[in-house]
Amino acid sequence: MALFKSSTRTIPAPSAVPRHIAMIMDGNGRWAKQRLLPRVAGHQRGVESVREMVKACRQLGVEYLTLFAFSSENWRRPSDEVSFLMQLFMKMLEREAVNLHKNNVRLKIIGDRSRFDELLVKYIEDAELLTANNDGLTLTIAANYGGRWDIMNAVQGLWKARPEMSGNFSEEDLEPYLSMHYAPEPDLFIRTGGEQRISNFILWQMAYTELYFTDTLWPAFDRAALDVAIQSYQNRERRFGRTSEQLTESKPDA
Ligand code: IPE
Ligand code: IPE
Ligand code: MG
Repeated sequence: MALFKSSTRTIPAPSAVPRHIAMIMDGNGRWAKQRLLPRVAGHQRGVESVREMVKACRQLGVEYLTLFAFSSENWRRPSDEVSFLMQLFMKMLEREAVNLHKNNVRLKIIGDRSRFDELLVKYIEDAELLTANNDGLTLTIAANYGGRWDIMNAVQGLWKARPEMSGNFSEEDLEPYLSMHYAPEPDLFIRTGGEQRISNFILWQMAYTELYFTDTLWPAFDRAALDVAIQSYQNRERRFGRTSEQLTESKPDA
């Protein structure tokens, strides 16, 4: 991919298809409520949208898809909903890992695993190991993830690894310790379900991400809805602090 240099950082050249899309999958409960179903039926149906997004991103040539499945704040929900979500996550890992592998998808799970059951941790590790060498789409699932947790975790990791620096580190020193160190920053962020907030999702790497909010509830978010979001992204001008005129003057490197 063509890149051009800013004074401080390498920034992505404008591209028709976002390289990295990050999504907050919101609105499952309301989707179910509208149909007089229990909330968990919305989570169940939401799995179909996950499948559809993975397929669409593979077809479109998106390189990284990151999905927020469970936030560090979601433990505050009723315990039966939390345990349903954990069971669903485990079932998905068990059933889908082989399919993802067949489709050359590399699966990554980010978030604090310390509160998960041992068995769930094992499923996570097995699925990551199975798909580790795939070089198609990288699918990241954020589970028990919080953007602030991630930054704190990175600071602690760097501090432990480089005590001699006594905290005198730069942004570039910290970045390898963030959980998504393997991915470029998200180009496009999509939140379904009508709320216009970040809810402690990826904070550090979304500094310059294009934000897109839709009222469509997650279980109803399909390929056509994704295409509309990408069209919106394609009409944005990503300036990264520059003026519009400077962008047209820049000549991307080969
Ligand atoms: C998102 O849907 C899924 C998770 C947070 C796990 P919600 O469950 O938040 O659905 P709404 O927002 O209540 O409709
Ligand atoms: C954000 O959704 C987290 C996930 C989709 C996993 P929430 O429904 O938990 O967000 P808030 O609480 O409305 O901000
Ligand atoms: Mg919600």
